[in-house]
Amino acid sequence: MKKITLLLSLIYISCSAQVSTNPTGLVTSKAMVVSAREEASKIGVEIMKKGGNAFDAMIGTELALAVSFPFAGNIGGGGFMVYRKANGEVGSLDYREKAPLAASKDMFLDKEGNVIKGKSTETALAIGVPGTIAGVFAVHKKFGSLPMSEILKPVIALAERGVIVTKKQEKSMNNYRESIVKVNGSTTLLGTNFKEKDTIKYPALANTLKRISKNGRDEFYKGETAKILVEYLTKKGGIITLEDLAKYEAKWRKPLQFNYKDLKITSMSPPSSGGICLAQILKMIAPYDLAKMGHNSPEAIQIIVEAERRAYADRSQFLGDPDFVKIPVKALLADTYLKDRMSTFNVKKASLSSEIKEGKITYNESTETTHYSIVDQFGNAIAATTTLNDGYGSKYYCDELGFFLNNEMDDFSAKPGSPNMFGLVGSEANSIAPQKRMLSSMTPTIVEKNGKLFMVVGTPGGSTIITSVLQTILNVYEYKLSMQEAVNAPRFHHQWLPDLINFEADAFDIKTLDLLKSKGYLINEKPTPVLGKVDAILVLPNKNLEGGADFRGDDAASGF
Ligand code: GLY
Repeated sequence: MKKITLLLSLIYISCSAQVSTNPTGLVTSKAMVVSAREEASKIGVEIMKKGGNAFDAMIGTELALAVSFPFAGNIGGGGFMVYRKANGEVGSLDYREKAPLAASKDMFLDKEGNVIKGKSTETALAIGVPGTIAGVFAVHKKFGSLPMSEILKPVIALAERGVIVTKKQEKSMNNYRESIVKVNGSTTLLGTNFKEKDTIKYPALANTLKRISKNGRDEFYKGETAKILVEYLTKKGGIITLEDLAKYEAKWRKPLQFNYKDLKITSMSPPSSGGICLAQILKMIAPYDLAKMGHNSPEAIQIIVEAERRAYADRSQFLGDPDFVKIPVKALLADTYLKDRMSTFNVKKASLSSEIKEGKITYNESTETTHYSIVDQFGNAIAATTTLNDGYGSKYYCDELGFFLNNEMDDFSAKPGSPNMFGLVGSEANSIAPQKRMLSSMTPTIVEKNGKLFMVVGTPGGSTIITSVLQTILNVYEYKLSMQEAVNAPRFHHQWLPDLINFEADAFDIKTLDLLKSKGYLINEKPTPVLGKVDAILVLPNKNLEGGADFRGDDAASGF
């Protein structure tokens, strides 16, 4: 008996050092793009086939998503990009939107100081100064190898040729049509009742991209496009000026790096909370043997949830735009601090969020963003997440320019520092100020193992982004799932407040949920939307690449 136990332990130890050797997603040998639409993945791959690198492919994919996935792909929003070059050098780019110069701390409050419902999401004041075009040009200037006009050519062709409507897209357009028509009128492009298999052409966007291709970055921020955009926004009651556009710059930032066991993880630093929260959670759960507890077992869920609860409590208190607020990054990631945070964890009983920290705020981040992962034939890797915030952003669509504008201003704390009618207190760190960037949860992440590229991962999902990225890494590393299995696996989420665990619908064992309930965990019994649409790439032991494209969307891997 003892021998069998020893043998089983040896098998377990040797297995735990490896990853799954049975890929179930697309496998290619050299290069890959995984994104929310096949058209965008293919354009990125074509650029690399022509000899372009991952950075050229990033520009093509990002802009092809603006054409093929208007739900979240954009030139009217912003995002974050984390990269790892073949030589191991890492970096990140912040092309997050900024508050306009005329923005003010109380701009979404009434005379009594209460938040005016919908003002930060459904009005032209919700729009932050877009960063995407500045982002792709910054990438091109630093790392691009093909001319911008060559990268943009297939994107413009796609906009002119049109994109075929999928079943999921038909559903999403049906859900949002009324609100899109409400702000833009019935003649607006997506006011039409498009059906699955219809082709939507984007001639106005094609013209905008052609001008950008010809005149460069300044076309968007200082040229004809800028003038048309400001005229449109002013007519709609917005406050973005030509000065706001002219002043916008994307920013290279030092990414956040930390270790989890023998993995080295590189993720986005503030103004995204993604990297810090991911690091805090992984460091808090590291002492526990999750693999032994079993994938999605009640014990493992409990530990992950308790770590998430504590990390999100810190997020709401301390994180904001580092150009405006001092963030105690070192202290938040200190081993002794995180050990102490978990010291109140009781395996028999759920912690209460009210006991974890006083001062409650909720971040109303929506779930509509998009992520893509790229590895090129030279060994460079890119994780990029980009967003309009809500689905189709603010719904404001400039017909003449052919794109939606974000409603990212809602990612600020509209009412920081003062208790609301429930005694909830917001965070000063994320209050609105002119030129400030709103806090994000986007978590584009690159993982190394033994000094080599291991995984590229990220997802949309608002506040659930961090926990979906976390579980995808754990699924591969702790539970030995293939990349595609790791993406497919059911997910759960806790974010401190509201004090509820969200489980993906019909995906978890009733016994697991009952056991958690018996320990005092509160479970969201309302229908839960999908938690993230993870697009990831895993480097297999034989150096091939396995894509994980999320079935929850129309996501697709492509490569060679
Ligand atoms: N708007 C979603 C995020 O930035 O996290």
